[in-house]
Amino acid sequence: MITNPAQPNWSEIYKQRRNRIRGETGDGVILWMGAGLQARNYTDNTYPFRQNSHFLYYTGLAEPDLAMLSFPEPDHDILFCKPISMDDIVWSGPRPTRVELAGRAGIGTVEDLDRLDETIAKVRAQGAKIHYLPPYSYSALFKAARLLNTDPNEVVVHSSQLLMERVAIQRSVKSDFEIAEIEDALVISDRMHRACMAATRPGAREAEIAGMIQGIALSSNRQQAYNPIVTVRGEVLHNNSYDGILAEGQLLLNDSGAESPMCYASDITRVCPVSGRFTAVQAEIYQLVLSMQLGGIGMIKPGLSYRDVHLGACRILADGMRALGLMKGNPSDAVEAGAHALFFPHGIGHMLGLDVHDMEDLGDVVGYHKREKRSGQFGLNALRLSRPIEPGFVLTVEPGIYFIPALIDRWRNERLHADFIDYDKVDSFRSFGGIRIEDDVLVTATGARVLGPGIPKTIPEVEEACSKH
Ligand code: GLY
Ligand code: MN
Repeated sequence: MITNPAQPNWSEIYKQRRNRIRGETGDGVILWMGAGLQARNYTDNTYPFRQNSHFLYYTGLAEPDLAMLSFPEPDHDILFCKPISMDDIVWSGPRPTRVELAGRAGIGTVEDLDRLDETIAKVRAQGAKIHYLPPYSYSALFKAARLLNTDPNEVVVHSSQLLMERVAIQRSVKSDFEIAEIEDALVISDRMHRACMAATRPGAREAEIAGMIQGIALSSNRQQAYNPIVTVRGEVLHNNSYDGILAEGQLLLNDSGAESPMCYASDITRVCPVSGRFTAVQAEIYQLVLSMQLGGIGMIKPGLSYRDVHLGACRILADGMRALGLMKGNPSDAVEAGAHALFFPHGIGHMLGLDVHDMEDLGDVVGYHKREKRSGQFGLNALRLSRPIEPGFVLTVEPGIYFIPALIDRWRNERLHADFIDYDKVDSFRSFGGIRIEDDVLVTATGARVLGPGIPKTIPEVEEACSKH
């Protein structure tokens, strides 16, 4: 169900967000760098523009070539904009004026982007610290190096740990407006997934289905939140090739999501049988992944660490795999040893918001408590979110079971976890592929709410959606 809160006063919201973050970073001045257009093969042929998500969160401005300085005093921000030339207007059309942009974001002062260098130099000459977030693109890194008069190799090292921590805390708890945006994105994702299920049939091409999914986003004037994964080789976790042709007996994995009008992401994975009906063996593994997913969602409550939710789902996996004869021994011991990761080598989920892996550009500041280090154990080392969860967090819950032939061969040759894995039985699943089931979930005061309109997920629901040619 989409909640539709009354239209908020966005410029006030951006002001409040900036006042909170400046209040938490002390005396320094914060440099926010908007994204620029990225050349694909020459300057005028660019990738689709996507604003930096932190810049979006604190200004809502989705135009390229912007920057902002936030000073310690309340409401004191300067927006820096590139002047618009007649050539820009001739080639790209009229753009909002800088005064319009500043007004939308509730910013009182605007300057030419050319004046950013000297303003930063003045701030530093007065002894103030410049806080900034680590750039994730080389173009932003070199821009920051020039602005800060620093060697490019030093830019990330000198980014502000305090700012990273405070931004992560602020952006982790979503407001009702943000949740409504994510649910809006999920309406488009629902259409993507239902259309994929209806189009899945022997002889169809992965590229054809991926193109249809992209078309559903584009025809609603939406971006995709990430490159969709549409593949019969679901065991390749981030498979971005669309070369395959669907064959009877295979499973098609579709991990795709749209953005909302304000660029919030959705991230959904479903798997459906190419022939329209799961085989008995596919249904057994599917049902086990579904138990992991529903079990994970059922465990979610404020205060519990997401690591514990992950490990709980891993125990459901180990228990179920033992019942199917693929694993043996005590399931808890198997999980502690890391044996289950042969089948589930990634984490149960991640934060979701303006980014599909929300704020992952800030590293483990987002998903790990200050005193907690990421595990070195295979599988657990891919857990992106481990810290205790809080009401207002939006998370993905996305367990999977995969049969990765190269990994099976390596572990078997090394006799790794041979006490817990029946390698002969596992070998008979070599061509199975992979299953992942993923939803976007809000942590509430007492538990969890699955967001979105209810995308087919149980075996009867998926088979029914597949029959709608
Ligand atoms: N949607 C891809 C991922 O979560 O990694
Ligand atoms: Mn995901």
